[in-house]
Amino acid sequence: MTQQTRKLRSVVKGVGSALPRRCVTNRELESQVDTSDAWIVQRTGITQRYIAGEGETTASLGTEAARMAMARAGCGPEDIDLIICATSTPDLTFPSVATMIQAELGVRGGVAFDLQAVCAGFVFAVATADKFLISGSHKRALVIGAETFSRILDWKDRTTCVLFGDGAGALVLEAQEGEGTNADRGVLAARLRSDGRYKSKLYVDGGPSTTGTAGCVRMEGKEVFRFAVGHVTDVMVDSFADTGLTVEDLNWFVPHQANQRIIDASAQKLGIAPQKVVKTVQLHGNTSAASIPLALNVACEDGRIKPGDLVMIEAIGGGFTWGAALIRW
Ligand code: UT7
Repeated sequence: MTQQTRKLRSVVKGVGSALPRRCVTNRELESQVDTSDAWIVQRTGITQRYIAGEGETTASLGTEAARMAMARAGCGPEDIDLIICATSTPDLTFPSVATMIQAELGVRGGVAFDLQAVCAGFVFAVATADKFLISGSHKRALVIGAETFSRILDWKDRTTCVLFGDGAGALVLEAQEGEGTNADRGVLAARLRSDGRYKSKLYVDGGPSTTGTAGCVRMEGKEVFRFAVGHVTDVMVDSFADTGLTVEDLNWFVPHQANQRIIDASAQKLGIAPQKVVKTVQLHGNTSAASIPLALNVACEDGRIKPGDLVMIEAIGGGFTWGAALIRW
């Protein structure tokens, strides 16, 4: 390999996650809304979710996840120069959750900001951090997905309140020089898309500039489902095309964890074998931007994802926004 083809890559150095203390089962929800464990399991695969309690916020969960990722990466606050927090449920309208996490961690340099792409937020944050790192402007990034969706749910609306949960996950990404080939560790491709015409399919009915309140999640579930299965595979196909890699090369598919049926249908559409699919929706529910890093943490802790593995992450969220990234772990 010649010197000219060497290339900076954003390499995963550590992963971490955090969940609220309280676990809420489907059975517990049966006493609150007109639903059943059988309906939730059959339609979504979800059996439980974690709900933030007193003192637990998006920033506190994000901080805990970031600490774990940093410890595993073997780095301290002085080593981090970029923090991106993907969230749609910030503690305050401003300042950003990322700056709150920065302060808690004792990170004194660099830049910290939030990124809002709802459930696709973590993929957008990885792709954004990658641009910073491969440009050479920053060296080590904390990429966090953190949410407390329980606080923007209408707990009387059974079509949404049973689906979501709270949590956070984080990655430390470090700029490292690679050979410029698909064998390099790091982010090999990332594709993002959005189409604002779909606003009414999945949105929150409040905000600082309209109602002056936080609002509640509203969703036309069937429409989102159709779009997720029908369209979202384009970013995965494009990511493979960018690299010349194929589904056969993939070790793990770690999609946004919204619904088991969406995950299965997407994997089947792309020809990804079921044993390569990481599913945690049954444990966490839909934690929006936190769902992928929570799933990555589970699959790293249980030994499935190992250094050198090829991992595809993919998500769709309100907007619509959607994206995918191929990462050599
Ligand atoms: O993370 C962002 C992306 N979000 C998603 O990916 C969510 C995508 N959508 C979905 O996952 C699914 O559409 C849902 C899980 C939300 C709903 O599943 P579905 O198979 O599309 O059900 P449906 O909305 O067509 O509802 C079927 C029935 C309805 O009753 P009728 O009209 O057939 O009598 C609903 O009223 O199920 C009823 N229903 C419920 N029943 C018990 C809706 N919610 C519930 C509930 N418990 N919680």
